[in-house]
Amino acid sequence: MQTTETTHNSGEVIKLESEHVLQTYRRAPVVFERGSGCRLFDASGRGYLDFISGIGVSSLGHAHPRLTAAIAAQAGQLLHTSNLYFHPLQGEVAAKLAELSGLPRVFFCNSGTEAVEASLKFARRYWFSKGTPRTAVVSLQRGFHGRTMGALSVTWDEHYRAPFSPLLDGVTFVSNTDPAELLAAVTDETAAIIAEPLQGEGGVHPLSLEMAAAIRTACARTGALLIADEVQCGLGRTGVPFYSSKLGLQPDMISTGKALGGGVPVGAALFSQRVADAASFGDHGSTYGGNLLACRAAQVFLDELTSGLMAHVAEIGTEIEAALRRVAARHSTIVDVRGAGVIWGLELDRPAAPVVDAALERGLLINRTADTVLRLLPPYIVDSADVNQMAVLLDAALAAVKGEGS
Ligand SMILES: Cc1ncc(COP(=O)(O)O)c(C=O)c1O
Repeated sequence: MQTTETTHNSGEVIKLESEHVLQTYRRAPVVFERGSGCRLFDASGRGYLDFISGIGVSSLGHAHPRLTAAIAAQAGQLLHTSNLYFHPLQGEVAAKLAELSGLPRVFFCNSGTEAVEASLKFARRYWFSKGTPRTAVVSLQRGFHGRTMGALSVTWDEHYRAPFSPLLDGVTFVSNTDPAELLAAVTDETAAIIAEPLQGEGGVHPLSLEMAAAIRTACARTGALLIADEVQCGLGRTGVPFYSSKLGLQPDMISTGKALGGGVPVGAALFSQRVADAASFGDHGSTYGGNLLACRAAQVFLDELTSGLMAHVAEIGTEIEAALRRVAARHSTIVDVRGAGVIWGLELDRPAAPVVDAALERGLLINRTADTVLRLLPPYIVDSADVNQMAVLLDAALAAVKGEGS
């Protein structure tokens, strides 16, 4: 669809990065230069079916005509003014997020981890304002909440946390599948429970209704606030606005990000009125947060989402599930299929990385979480033909790794 002015030499790109970019990412050796819909194209012009969408970010796919035009128009008008002044878009986007979530107030930031930081800060602020300070947080095993110090403190994987200790005090991790353990851990000193209603990085694990009931009971008993981290699973990804509502949860705070800007960095922390009432001028801030470019992108995404895209996600989700179950029936290495809408995990009985590599070789982009889980996070706009092609490529990749399946 598009043309590029420059085509880069992949070897030179990779070499230059290896010399000058902080080596925190183990990247696959592919250089992408352009995209269209659910496809990415590398420097040699080869196409790939994108079922990871920049880890759940490119919700409208690549080079979406409406998003592209809106971003270009906004760039030509005004990009940024800071939060010293008003601009017309923050209130509009906040109102739309409030309508979707039932939480009336929004703090805009630039990433998921910042949305989590804001939620953790305002959990403390709430209790401080009440005159009964609480700082303890209960978090779940397999939970992932980001890489800044607060979000990292409530992230379960020790491997991420250990090199950066000491982190925040007072964080207790409990099983994500044992309601009794959660009920025992939440006390009158707990400021908040933080949980992903559907855990993404931890291996695509939806919380059970029993866990949700325990969270509700614990909050009601102790007054602890509930932070639902929906950075990955929220904003229509499962076919409903927020997965917490599907579990019957009413969070005091919801953290969002990823899909919201469709590729433009934007995060948002959503607050109940009682938590928002504790906020004062100067309590929190962000230079970029909610600037015109970010809000314009979010506006387009939210408008698409509520004009049929969320219903599409729900429908295509059933097609994806059916396709994955057909693939699973052909490969005994797949021991579980989990997910909803456009977030799916295939649990393998072995490490998943070789399958990810084999899929890449065949032109399918997926990734691995929690060692043994293949994760699929396609753009929300994915269609039946894309799903069928994904199933063919995934089947071939699994067969190649196992030497079975045909
Ligand atoms: C549930 C959840 N919370 C927070 C984050 C952190 O988001 P970001 O990488 O945008 O800071 C992620 C990222 O994967 C996530 O999945």
